[in-house]
Amino acid sequence: MNEPLHALDAHVHAPISEVPRFMHAWLVRASRFGEPERAFVRETVEVPSIGEDEVLVRVMAAGVNYNNVWAAKGFPVDVIAARQRAGERADFHIGGSDASGVVARVGAAVKGVAVGDEVVLHCGMWDRSDALPADIDNTMDPSFRIWGYESNYGSFAQYTRVKASQCLPKPRHLTWEEAAAYMLVGATAYRMLRGWAPHVVRAGDVVLVWGGAGGLGSMAIQLARVFGAKPVAVVSDASKIEHCLRLGAVGCVDRKRFSHWGALPALDDKQAMDAWTRETRAFGRAIWEAVGQKSNPRIVVEHPGEDTIPTSTYVCDAGGMVVICAGTTGYLASIDLRHHWMRQKRFQGSHFASDAEARATNDLVAERKLDPCLSHTFAWDELAVCHQRMSEGRLPPGNVAILVGAPREGLGRRA
Ligand SMILES: NC(=O)c1ccc[n+]([C@@H]2O[C@H](COP(=O)([O-])OP(=O)(O)OC[C@H]3O[C@@H](n4cnc5c(N)ncnc54)[C@H](OP(=O)(O)O)[C@@H]3O)[C@@H](O)[C@H]2O)c1
Repeated sequence: MNEPLHALDAHVHAPISEVPRFMHAWLVRASRFGEPERAFVRETVEVPSIGEDEVLVRVMAAGVNYNNVWAAKGFPVDVIAARQRAGERADFHIGGSDASGVVARVGAAVKGVAVGDEVVLHCGMWDRSDALPADIDNTMDPSFRIWGYESNYGSFAQYTRVKASQCLPKPRHLTWEEAAAYMLVGATAYRMLRGWAPHVVRAGDVVLVWGGAGGLGSMAIQLARVFGAKPVAVVSDASKIEHCLRLGAVGCVDRKRFSHWGALPALDDKQAMDAWTRETRAFGRAIWEAVGQKSNPRIVVEHPGEDTIPTSTYVCDAGGMVVICAGTTGYLASIDLRHHWMRQKRFQGSHFASDAEARATNDLVAERKLDPCLSHTFAWDELAVCHQRMSEGRLPPGNVAILVGAPREGLGRRA
């Protein structure tokens, strides 16, 4: 490990084909699992080798997502142990599931990606040797996993290893940090809104978006609007309302005005059930006020989970869909099945996006229909602090990115 490294700034000026043996990276190790501020530590490791369908990318900027808060905590999954059980030798985790960068090496079987290409990376990694027929959704492939969370060698390093199928052209109008900020949340929101026919978002649909000012929510609001729908954003304080309206929300609901969150009361506790129903109906009326008419959401974009599922399934329109990609507040949610079956609603799980959905998301960004919503850019040295703030809900609305090899002009810039 004593070989000289390229300094972080100097290294970006080296020819792209010149790949050093070692690189700077932020590592999580099992002995440090806990608060992100302490779990992530800068170390130097060997640049990974690549397989024949893989690509080595010199990282210019990395995006930040909640999954690496979980990875730092080692909860609910110890991602290092999980990989070791599957045969990986490395006893560390290099996270990072969003990035922009320049292709530095390509494997022998790679087609359509070349050294020197400027790329945005999506995190849907799968092993093409296990490939399902081409017309089948590749997220259902048994080998499908999230790069930089379930896989090692994510974007929190000078070089990252990805499958060639994860590379998409970098939209030319974006800075490196903007290009690193949107793909994971953007493509996840795209699949939630477009991937579950017949509940594909349509013009005029009311779409309820939980955490409207968060990364996922900021993209869901914009996408709903792109397809002509009427997004209503849920937020927890008034300061986030302007952000959501600017992205295209027709109105917002402040969840702090309500207190009925969490599991449903017992059915035989009439007093508690009546109070819950009153609050939930008031929440439904707040959605109508935001829309300006008595229309229930045809699609509810869910991720809080345990705290909000009872409300989501209640306010969702008859024949509508609650689509969920996470359990930000907990995994054990309760549903009053009477409303669910009598009004024939759908409860749909959704996880990241297929190659085609990631490409469609990137195309919308390239066409300037979808803004990356970059609200803050952190320096390389601030990676652990940035994840700590995310863990504590203290990041600004929208998405944030971290400069890796990109020039530092964008540092601290706010949209
Ligand atoms: N499966 C997938 O492929 C996938 C992809 C992307 C993201 N995710 C997951 O989706 C979740 C959101 O990601 P993100 O990037 O948007 O995170 P984020 O930027 O940190 O936003 C989280 C949002 O959650 C809202 N929230 C927090 N506590 C809440 C509560 N008790 N009730 C209702 N809303 C609450 C907050 O909004 P307010 O406080 O303003 O209400 C906040 O804006 C994370 O758990 C992430 O891991 C999953």
